[in-house]
Formats: sequence, structure tokens, C-alpha cells
Amino acid sequence: MTTTTETLTESLIIGGARVGASDGGTFDVFDPSSGSLLATVAKATKEDVKRAVASARTALESKAWAGITPAERGRMLQRIAQGIRDRAEELATLESRDNGKPLRQSRTDVQVAARYFEFFAGIADKIMGHTIPIGPGYLDYTLREPIGVSAQIIPWNYPIQIGARGVAPALAAGCAVVLKPAEDAPMTALRLGEIALASGVPPGVFNVVPGMGPEAGAALASDPDINQLTFTGSIEVGILVAKMAAENIVPVVMELGGKSPNVVFADADLDLTVAGVSNAIFQNAGQTCSAGSRLLVERKAHGAVVDRLVARAKAMRVGPGVSDPDMGPIISKRQLETVEGYVKIGKGEGAEILTGGMRPSDPSLGSGFYFEPTLLDRVAPDMRVSREEIFGPVLAITTFEDVEEAAELANRSQYGLVAGVWTRDVNKALALASRIKVGQVYVNTYGAGGGVELPFGGYKKSGYGREKGLEALASYTQVKNVCVKFA
Ligand code: NAI
Ligand code: MG
Repeated sequence: MTTTTETLTESLIIGGARVGASDGGTFDVFDPSSGSLLATVAKATKEDVKRAVASARTALESKAWAGITPAERGRMLQRIAQGIRDRAEELATLESRDNGKPLRQSRTDVQVAARYFEFFAGIADKIMGHTIPIGPGYLDYTLREPIGVSAQIIPWNYPIQIGARGVAPALAAGCAVVLKPAEDAPMTALRLGEIALASGVPPGVFNVVPGMGPEAGAALASDPDINQLTFTGSIEVGILVAKMAAENIVPVVMELGGKSPNVVFADADLDLTVAGVSNAIFQNAGQTCSAGSRLLVERKAHGAVVDRLVARAKAMRVGPGVSDPDMGPIISKRQLETVEGYVKIGKGEGAEILTGGMRPSDPSLGSGFYFEPTLLDRVAPDMRVSREEIFGPVLAITTFEDVEEAAELANRSQYGLVAGVWTRDVNKALALASRIKVGQVYVNTYGAGGGVELPFGGYKKSGYGREKGLEALASYTQVKNVCVKFA
């Protein structure tokens, strides 16, 4: 555990150089565990973002990047993975101070970030096209070329993981990137930029421009010289940036969160199930796009499952991320108030608070943005706490009678990101897996340790496009067909 309290000073990374904002502006970043100042960070202006995009454009076409072999690109990504691992403890501590998450979660996030670079390093020299047989006298083949300059706007909940998730496949494909981290937690995204430079990635190939959403984020999404946009965040902002990109015919990958169900049948291994269900909602204090925020439990198992869940939630230690508790704080006062507001709404709608529902009483936590692990029972599917993403440690519990009703309830959502199914009956598991409209289904597990290799993305309003796994490359490449007629 580190006790360091020095305030950090951070620059933008543009064209391989660490620079201040063009107008000298900065913003403050706070440690949500204590509300104290963690860092002062250069605040990118519209001009800075323009410059970053221009530098990515130049780098994209440079000899140093476009002129090297895919194998060499892969080796650079391997070095980034190693660079992340070499600094793992420093990065994990920084992530915990910036975001508030428990140290062991940050350590996992850092290893997952390294895995993204390692995984995509291995594919850099295997991005192949086809030959297409159209008849005698023709040779037809396809090439998968880099799509160009990739703009990436990421949130504060998993900065190093989500940063790596988008940057690694983009670089593997030969793209250049401009990354805008979230104003609430920009620190480890900047470290990724530094590590890439130290790993021999040419200047300008990977730029990092921390700043405000409506300024730097909007400037990036609307820049006419980007070729692709990857966005993770709220539906509201997702719609805004997709419209900006549409003005320039720029394709978007959208990851907009969810209200993911964990469906628990009475025949499930209840100890395994309750550990999985609990972790799916309380990991990262519920601030996870794929959080299992709805528990759908077969009525006859309700009592047994709920008793175990309550016991677990009550035993959880809440505290500062760097002290490695079971659950850290919420990212900000604003987000904490949103979570509190939802619990109030749920109560008003008739939900019953089984445990939690407020800020912890421990006075030593008074200056941080903490909220207790919260279980809401008797949640009807039409309640707002069942329909809307809370993004906090609040689980909404609803019962069902049979497979039919479980599937119907699971699908009664505007979202469709992830679902968990817990049962020993393969028939129930596969019936649900085929009927639930989500991008990922897990059976008797949830999340699979980062799931670097597994395609990830939304149905419905959870978004479109796929990240992670080999599927991710589709977003960072474009297909050129070459048709040759010969005599
Ligand atoms: P947000 O959607 O405002 O922020 C995400 C990113 O978009 C940040 O980098 C932000 O700077 C940027 N951004 C904000 N306004 C922008 C604009 N006008 N143009 C371009 N970029 C812009 O998310 P916020 O406000 O931090 O959280 C609000 C809610 O969004 C949460 O309560 C949660 O429900 C959801 N959310 C979902 C996430 C996910 O993983 N899918 C991550 C973060 C938030
Ligand atoms: Mg916002």
C-alpha cells in the first residue's frame, strides 16, 4: 500500500511530445477515496485536438509506421505489454487513487490491459484477405487495410482496461490513434501513451488528449479528419457523438452500458451462484458497463439466495482503494448523488431495501464518495430501478416462475449487453442462451476475467460494433477488393 500524497502534474501527449494545453489551461483530478487533489492535468483545447488528429494523420502515412512490417508492429505491441507489466504495481496504485477501486481490482485491470496488447500483438501479422474465384481470366483478391485515424473516447470506470481495449487492436491493424480519457480519471491512459512511446511506437501514432467532454471530446468526434470513432459511455453522449461522426460519414463503435440480468434457477449451485452474482454487481462499486445489476431469481429459491446475498453484502469492507477493501468509493460526488437518488426512487416505487441504501456511517470515510452495497428486493420490472442503469452498487431483485418468464423478464430492457444464467440443467441454460437478446451470455460464470479474447458489444441500446477478440479488428480495418483480368 502506498501512502504517497504528492500532487501529480500531467501533460497532453501529441506527436510524441508532452505538451501543455495551447491556452495553458488545466483541470483538477480528485481521489474519490478522500476527495483530495490527485493531479493537475493539461486540459486539451479544440486546437490541441486538431493538432493531435493532424499528427496522427502524418504518423499514419509515415515510413516509420506505414513502412514497417506487420511483424515489427506486433513486436512493438509486445513491448507495450511488457512495459505495462514492468510498471504493474505503480499503474495499479495510480488506478486505485484515480478511480477509487480496490487495489486487487486495479492489479487485474493492469494485467488485462497487458493482455490486450499481447493478444493483438499476435494477430498483427495475420490480418489476411481472401482470393475470390470469379472465373477464368481473373484474379480477385481482398486486402484488409488500416481504417486510418481512430478517435477513442473512454470513460472513467476502467481507464487502463478500456484504453487498452481500443488502442491495441487499432495499432495492430496499423491505425493511428487519438485517445481522449475521461475528465474524472485520466491518469493511466496517459501512462499508456508514455509506455507506447518508450516501446518504440513512432511519435504521433498514439496521442492522448485529456480534456472536457463537450470541448475536447466533441472536437475529436466532429473532426473531419478522423476515419473511425470508438466510444464508451452514456447513451445520451453516445447519441451526440454518433451524430457528430455521421456528419463526416465516420463509422462508430458504441458501447453504452446496460442493465444486465443474472438469471438464477433453483437447481443452481447456490454458493457458486451467490459469489458470482455478488461480484457481478459490487465489483468496481457497480460502475461497470456489464454489471449484473438485475437479479432474476426463481421464486422457490428466492429466500435462500437472498439470505446468502445479504450476508455477503453485510460482510463487505468498504474503504479507500489503496487499502484494498472489498469495495471502494463511487467516482464522484455527482455520481454518488445519482446512486442515492435511485435508491430513493426505488423506495418510492415500492422496492424493499434488504441491506445498504446509504452512505457508510464510519466517520473515517466521511470525506470520500462511499455508498454501501445495496440490495433492493420486490422490484417489479416496470420500476425505474429495474429499467435504468444506476451505475452504482445497487442490485434490483425480481422473481420468476419458469423459463418462459425468465426469458421474458431478461429481455424486458432497452439494453442488451451481457446476461448470466445459473443452473445445473443444460436445457435451461441453452434455452436462455438462445433467447436472451444480448451480446454475451455467461453460464455459471460471469465476465471470465476480462474476457480479452471474447467478442463484446451490445444488442439494442447497449450499442453496436464489437470490441475484444478477433471481432474487434473489423472496426479498425477496411476491405479493398482488387479485380485483375489477364489474357
Ligand atoms: P459520459 O457519457 O458523459 O462520459 C463518457 C466519455 O464521454 C468521457 O470521456 C466524457 O468526457 C465524454 N463526453 C462527455 N460529453 C461529451 C460530448 N458532448 N462530446 C464528446 N464526448 C463527451 O458519462 P458520465 O457522465 O461520466 O456518466 C454518466 C452515466 O453514463 C453513468 O451513470 C453510466 O450510467 C453511464 N456510463 C456508462 C459507461 C459504460 O461503461 N458504458 C461508462 C461511463 C458512464
Ligand atoms: Mg457526462
